[in-house]
Amino acid sequence: MSGAATAPDTDLPQAATIPATTPAMTQGTSPPSGPAASVEGAVHLEGDRVSDGAADIPAGTTPAEGAAWERVVGEHALDEHAGTEPPTEHVDGVPGGARLAVPEPDPAEPALALAFRDARTPRRWSARPVADETLRTLYDLVRLGPTSANCSPARFVFLRSRQARERLVPALSTGNVELVLDAAVTVIVAHDPLFFEQMPRLWPAAELRSWFAADAALADETALRNGTLQGGYLIIAARLLGLDAAPMSGFDNSRVDDLFLSGQGWRSNFLVSLGHAAEAPDRPRAPRLAFDEACLLL
Ligand SMILES: Cc1cc2nc3c(=O)[nH]c(=O)nc-3n(C[C@H](O)[C@H](O)[C@H](O)COP(=O)(O)O)c2cc1C
Repeated sequence: MSGAATAPDTDLPQAATIPATTPAMTQGTSPPSGPAASVEGAVHLEGDRVSDGAADIPAGTTPAEGAAWERVVGEHALDEHAGTEPPTEHVDGVPGGARLAVPEPDPAEPALALAFRDARTPRRWSARPVADETLRTLYDLVRLGPTSANCSPARFVFLRSRQARERLVPALSTGNVELVLDAAVTVIVAHDPLFFEQMPRLWPAAELRSWFAADAALADETALRNGTLQGGYLIIAARLLGLDAAPMSGFDNSRVDDLFLSGQGWRSNFLVSLGHAAEAPDRPRAPRLAFDEACLLL
């Protein structure tokens, strides 16, 4: 969570640099990123070399061998002999010559903490502003997120002034009024039902414009699906830029469309207030479904 105490002129330089350690991480809310975490980390293929961020795996090692190698190195790193020479003979079918590197913290962990592990939906906002430049940076990230056939149907209306956000109030559920009025910015995440007019530019390889133009149901479904995805990218990108994000669906969509979007013909989907939370949340995170409840491995 971002604090209210220090309010620089612009939040961009600070926000755009992901800190090596976030405040929340030092409070012990992040999982450990020592040897155990690093040996569980993903194996990345880099040309003919395989790296897990902790040590080199010999080129040509199969994934199964790589996993076994990681286990060996991990166990070695964790035992009392850590720091001494690792085994050099074949172990579990892994070619010899494995070298033990000093385990490094997972470089992805600060970003994962910012975007997911430590991120919470704020209830109250500090007065710290969000610069227009940050909103431009935010959109420049969001537009890179994938959409089907690059159709990019989302449209975003940034309500920066309190006056603009006050116009939204009659359409809001009571519980969302403060989340909008006190925010630095509230974004109307909308989509353009006629998004397909841009398809010749966005996907020149095929004639998709007429395909969508001839099938309103397909066009609506495509706009909603991809516009919602882009709204999700906005939440995660905002968090990575150091902002807090409060999504809201408690409002009257048709009123918002009439109040703000009639000129463009866009349709509202949901709202996201952006800014810096006034304080850490006063309630624990609600439970999430466990892997086995929400996922199938087929
Ligand atoms: C699409 C969407 C709509 C939401 N609508 C509202 C809302 O109308 N009012 C509200 O107070 N919170 C709303 N939320 C916030 C969620 O309740 C909150 O993000 C969720 O409980 C996770 O909380 P956490 O980030 O603190 O774990 C909404 C969230 C999403 C993603």
